[in-house]
Amino acid sequence: MSRVAVVTGGTRGIGRAISVGLKNAGFNVVATYNANDEAAQRFVAETGICIQKFDVSQFKECEKAVQIIAKEVGPIEVLVNNAGITRDAMLHKMEREQWHEVIETNLSSCFNMCRLVIEDMRARNFGRIINITSVNGQKGQIGQVNYSAAKAGVIGLTKALAQESAAKGITVNAVAPGYIKTDMLNTVPSTVMDKIISLIPAGRLGSPEEVAKAVAFLASDYAGYVTGITFSMNGGQYFV
Ligand code: CAA
Repeated sequence: MSRVAVVTGGTRGIGRAISVGLKNAGFNVVATYNANDEAAQRFVAETGICIQKFDVSQFKECEKAVQIIAKEVGPIEVLVNNAGITRDAMLHKMEREQWHEVIETNLSSCFNMCRLVIEDMRARNFGRIINITSVNGQKGQIGQVNYSAAKAGVIGLTKALAQESAAKGITVNAVAPGYIKTDMLNTVPSTVMDKIISLIPAGRLGSPEEVAKAVAFLASDYAGYVTGITFSMNGGQYFV
């Protein structure tokens, strides 16, 4: 039987490509989303992948959703924590709300979802957790103290949980994309975008499908000895 893979924020952007990539690799995928019903319905019609609506920043909502998925689809063996938002502003202009929203959605969500699947994975002696971080969590980014802090936190969580889980057959890895062509870039002013692209040696943005291939490898049986890593893919923009 196919392994069940849950992809948070899995109906749009990078998450959508990950959902489709895992489906093509033979996984039984559930894509989660928070608000955009129209995009989610279009996603279902186009891919045939099932969806679950909840807010990853809310532990109780995650708990309910994980229970439903486990009961109706099967035990979650692969978890991809992909859901994320930006609320960019210089620190001297940033509201507390912008800080908290990004920390809760991009970092606490990883705690919520990992906490809710880890006991079952430990009991089954198998699991694959893949956390989507960012080049901006590795190098820091003007206008993103909130996002950079959350994404750096995701890398720390990944390394700690990888050590806790290795003896139980569970791998925990991060993927750190650079600037990828998705709607998330729509809020970046075009002059700033030109400046960013000029600093990418590859001279272009990445594609969601390129990220999805890395995730599919880390989810596969071939990657059983890979844990605690951050797989960077940023067109040469930053070397860790
Ligand atoms: N790289 C280089 N320089 C940047 C920059 C960036 N990413 N962001 C801002 N700057 C520079 C601006 O060019 C500007 O420099 P000059 O004064 O020399 O022109 C200076 O910082 C101040 O910027 P703004 O004039 O735009 O200031 P603002 O207060 O009006 O807006 C901002 C600030 C909201 C941060 C806006 O600049 C912005 O949206 N920047 C983009 C931030 C960014 O890179 N976000 C990443 C989004 S994609 C993502 O997060 C996915 C991922 O994982 C990679």
